[in-house]
Amino acid sequence: MATVINGKEHAQQLRDNLAIEVSKLKSDHALVPGLAVVLVGEDPASQIYVRNKAKQTVEVGMKSFEHRLDTDTDEVTLLDLIASLNADDAVHGILVQLPLPPHIDEFKVINAVSHDKDVDGFHLMNVGRLNTDGGGVVPCTPLGSLMMLKSQLGDLTGLNAVIVGRSNIVGKPMAALLLKANCTVTIAHSRTKNLEELCRTADILVAAVGRPRMIQGDWIKPGATVIDVGINRIEENGATKLVGDVDYLSASEVAGAITPVPGGVGPMTIACLLHNTVQQAKRIAG
Ligand code: GUN
Repeated sequence: MATVINGKEHAQQLRDNLAIEVSKLKSDHALVPGLAVVLVGEDPASQIYVRNKAKQTVEVGMKSFEHRLDTDTDEVTLLDLIASLNADDAVHGILVQLPLPPHIDEFKVINAVSHDKDVDGFHLMNVGRLNTDGGGVVPCTPLGSLMMLKSQLGDLTGLNAVIVGRSNIVGKPMAALLLKANCTVTIAHSRTKNLEELCRTADILVAAVGRPRMIQGDWIKPGATVIDVGINRIEENGATKLVGDVDYLSASEVAGAITPVPGGVGPMTIACLLHNTVQQAKRIAG
């Protein structure tokens, strides 16, 4: 049976370390890192994420600023708010919760956030840095996934990594990170041929497709490390359940190590958001 990679424990450890860094910033530089989260609309999943983010921000000793705007807020109003947060010295990190309502241009909004305060790592400057020489902000979900992989496997050099999913938020930045870590990287997607066979070549398999339990145990190389990024809400036996993109029961009989859903990648994503905010605050403190 696979080792369970406990994301809650990893996240707790990261937050404990962050709390120490935050208290040093307070005592040595009189600086309290601040994270502003902007939510447009009423999407229930987004509301839960935003609440969790705010709670954990405060728990590590940071300041949390929440801005909730109506679904019909126009783009100019949102861009004005971002401009004021860019100029606010108490704010070191800005996150605009995605998805945005369809009448708002997501690309424009993401790139309106100052790249120095872009704790999502979605701004073009940070995407460019990740794909060149580094030094920018790394997106939270791939960063958390990489931390758990390194903790589980140590040096990743020479390992075959297959990422299923090519999103800007997870698939592409995950590929860049694993390439930097000297893996041989393949990005698979909905048009990939022989997906099952390809997955069976992976020493590291990252599932980020958003399709419940798509990846089965017999797609997995024995002993492989599986990172399940999926968070899918399904109805089963009359109850609502959260499941990943990997069929956990069959996969955990074959894999060497696997992240569960819930309790795997999810908690690490939020902890990495706090990590990115503290990094930005430390850069300002010098
Ligand atoms: N929506 C789902 N995941 C994310 C994320 O990592 N950042 C933002 N801003 N929105 C999201």
